[in-house]
Amino acid sequence: MLIMPEQHELAGRRLVVASHNAGKVREISALLAPLGIEAVSAAALNLPEPEETALTFEGNAELKAVAATQSGLPSLADDSGLEVMALDGAPGIYSARWAGPGKDFAFAMQRVHDELEAKGARDLSARFVCVLALAFPDGAVRTFRGEANGVLVWPPRGEKGFGYDPIFLPEGETRTFGEMTHEEKLPLTHRARAFEKLLAALK
Ligand code: IMP
Repeated sequence: MLIMPEQHELAGRRLVVASHNAGKVREISALLAPLGIEAVSAAALNLPEPEETALTFEGNAELKAVAATQSGLPSLADDSGLEVMALDGAPGIYSARWAGPGKDFAFAMQRVHDELEAKGARDLSARFVCVLALAFPDGAVRTFRGEANGVLVWPPRGEKGFGYDPIFLPEGETRTFGEMTHEEKLPLTHRARAFEKLLAALK
């Protein structure tokens, strides 16, 4: 396991969560509190949200985290999405963008389905990916990747969750993410796996 160098110790320090999404900030704060790390949101510090111009999850997570270090504090950002193997990894980093400005995920899921049909795809395997980037004001950055493998189902199943949850059946399960409660879904997620790696590096 990689050990954090001393100048990158975080215990007892404040860290910026490079997100303007209040739910995400709350979730990350709760995870970091037991380690003695206080999380503050990028919105509370009036930090601008950079455009996600990179072509990988790692690149986008890094650019968000690095931009937030202008506060003088270390910073944590995440980037996530759904990769469909038969679509060469699409929608991938464009997962949120496929839902359009109205964030219409029924539309985005239909597009995934239509593109698979158009290709006559038989392989319905997919994975959710989450990359966390931890950046320091001295320019150092580290990333942590978590993945959740599964297959796609059609029609969508379940009203719970968000985004592409109703079409994603995680490996070894009989219910889609959309049919699971938050508590049932959480330990199976790409996000939880990325966090496990981050916490192991911080401890
Ligand atoms: P981000 O906020 O830029 O990371 O956007 C990630 C997008 O990927 C979200 O808008 C969702 O569409 C999708 N996504 C990421 N994680 C999940 C998940 O756990 N369930 C369903 N969709 C997800």
